[in-house]
Amino acid sequence: MYSEKFQASLKAVEAARAANIAYTPDRMTADEKDKLLATYHPDYRADQFETLKVGPNKGEKVPRELAAMLEANARIKPEDIDLSNPDYDTDVLVIGGGGAGSSAAIEADNAGAKVMIVTKLRIGDANTMMAEGGIQAADKPNDSPAIHFVDAYGGGHFAAKKELLYKLVTEAPDAIKWLNELGVEFDKAPDGTMITTHGGGTSRKRMHAAKDYSGAEIMRTLRDEVLNRGIPVIDFTAAIEIIKDEDGKAAGAVLLNMETGDILIAKAKTVIIATGGAGRMHYQGFPTSNHYGATADGLVLGYRAGAKLLYADTLQYHPTGAAYPEQIFGALVTEKVRSLGAKLVNCNGEVFMHPLETRDVAAASIIRECDDRGNGVDTGTGLGVWLDTPMIEAIGGEGTIEKRIPAMMRMFGKYGIDIRKEPILVYPTLHYQNGGLDITPDGMTGVENLFVAGEAVGGIHGRNRLMGNSLLDVIVFGRNAGIHAAEKAKETETGALTLEHVNAFAKELKDAGIETDLVSPKLLPTYTHGNPKHQ
Ligand code: FUM
Repeated sequence: MYSEKFQASLKAVEAARAANIAYTPDRMTADEKDKLLATYHPDYRADQFETLKVGPNKGEKVPRELAAMLEANARIKPEDIDLSNPDYDTDVLVIGGGGAGSSAAIEADNAGAKVMIVTKLRIGDANTMMAEGGIQAADKPNDSPAIHFVDAYGGGHFAAKKELLYKLVTEAPDAIKWLNELGVEFDKAPDGTMITTHGGGTSRKRMHAAKDYSGAEIMRTLRDEVLNRGIPVIDFTAAIEIIKDEDGKAAGAVLLNMETGDILIAKAKTVIIATGGAGRMHYQGFPTSNHYGATADGLVLGYRAGAKLLYADTLQYHPTGAAYPEQIFGALVTEKVRSLGAKLVNCNGEVFMHPLETRDVAAASIIRECDDRGNGVDTGTGLGVWLDTPMIEAIGGEGTIEKRIPAMMRMFGKYGIDIRKEPILVYPTLHYQNGGLDITPDGMTGVENLFVAGEAVGGIHGRNRLMGNSLLDVIVFGRNAGIHAAEKAKETETGALTLEHVNAFAKELKDAGIETDLVSPKLLPTYTHGNPKHQ
C-alpha cells in the first residue's frame, strides 16, 4: 500500500504495463557498457579509493574504508600473547561458519583430518544464509561447463583467473549433486528434474534454486551435516590474527571470545580463512544486503600474514536492493524477480534497460536513471526505480509469485505491499566483494598452509560476478580448500609458533608514517554496541 505521493508514478507504471511486457530493449553493446560503467558505477569514483602504503599490495588502490582496516593496528600486542600452551590443537582450523567454512570442514573431516570451526557469531550467520536466487551449474542437455565459462568470463570483464573459473564451472554439476544428496530441497518438476532459470548474463537456464530461500536451504543442510558429524564449532569466537611457525607457515590463529573478551590460542597444521564478505563496511555509504558480520576480516587477517589481495578495488552493488520502505532499506530483492519477468521501469513507467543485463551494468543504469536523468522515484529517504513485479503474474500466471518467490512476497507483505498487485522500489545495494585473497587452484595463498575459500577469495569471478556463481564458489572452493588443507596437514611438521609477522607489519606501518587509532579486523559494524574495541 503506497501513500498518495507515489500514486501518479504508480498510475504511469500500471498504464504502461501491457506494452512494457511486450517490449524488451536490446542489450547494450560492449562500448555502451564500458562508457556507462565508467560514468556511473561506484567502482569508478576515484575519490573513494586509497592507495595502500604497506603490505603485499603496496601501491594498489582499494576502497578507503578497506585501506583503513588493512593499515590499522593489530588488536593484540604480540609480546602479551603466550603461544606456549595452546587452548586448541587441531589439524585444520577453519575460520568462519558460513557455506564455505562448513563445506571445507565437512571435506576435511571426510579426509580424516581433525578439524574445527571458529566463528565470531554462530554457524550459519553468513552471507550464504542470506542468498536467495540460486546456484548455477551447467547440468542440462543444452548447456555445458564451457558455455558457463564463457558467460562468467565475459560477465567478469575477462579478468577472472582462468584456472579458478575453470574449476568453478567444471565442478559445478558435482556440487549440485553433492548438495542434493546431502538433502538440499531444490525446486524440481514432478518427474524429479531440477527446475532451472536464467540470471543476468546467463545464456542458458542453469540457476538451481530452492524457491527464493536457496542460501538458507543450503546453509541449513550444511550446518546439520557439520553438527551431525560432531565437528567442533567454537562460536562467538573471532580469529583476530593468524599465527605462523618459525618457517613462515600458517600455524593457527589468535582468537577473541566475543562475549568475555578472553584471548585464546588455536594451533593448527593448516588454516582456512572462510570469513565471507564486506557489506557491513558500507563502502561509499551504501546500504547492504549482507549479514551482520560481513566486515572484511579475512582480508585483514590474510594481508597482515603476508597474503596478496586480488581485485580488492572491485565491489558488487546488487542492482535491486529494497529502496522502500525504510525498514528494509538495502535488503536483497533477488535477481530471480527479473528472471521471472519483472522489468525495471522509471518514474514515468518507461523500461530503460534490458532486464537481464549483468549486475554492474544494471546497477549503473539505475544510478544513471535516478541521479542523472531525473527519472527516479523519491522514496522520502532517497531515490529508486520501480521493479514491476505484477508482470510476473501476468506472464507466468496467477500464483507464480507465491510459488517461486515467497520470501519476496512476505518481505514486502509485512509492510502492506502486495507485490503480486503493486510494483516495488529498488536501488543498488552493496552485495558482494568481487576481490579478495589471491589463491592457486588448490585454495592456498602465497603463505604456505594458509588457505582461503568463499567470498574472501579474489579472482574467481574477475571484476563482476554473475548471479548464482557465489553459492557455487562457496561449495566448490569450500570443499576444495577442505580437501587440500587436510592433505597438506598430513605432511606438515609445525615448528615453534610466532607472531613476529605482526610486529614486522607494525614496523612497516611506522616506517610508512601511518599513525592511526584504528584496530582491525573490524569484527562487527561500526554502529554495533558492545563491539570490543571496534573503531
Ligand atoms: O539476486 C540474488 O538472488 C543474488 C544471488 C547472488 O548473489 O548470487
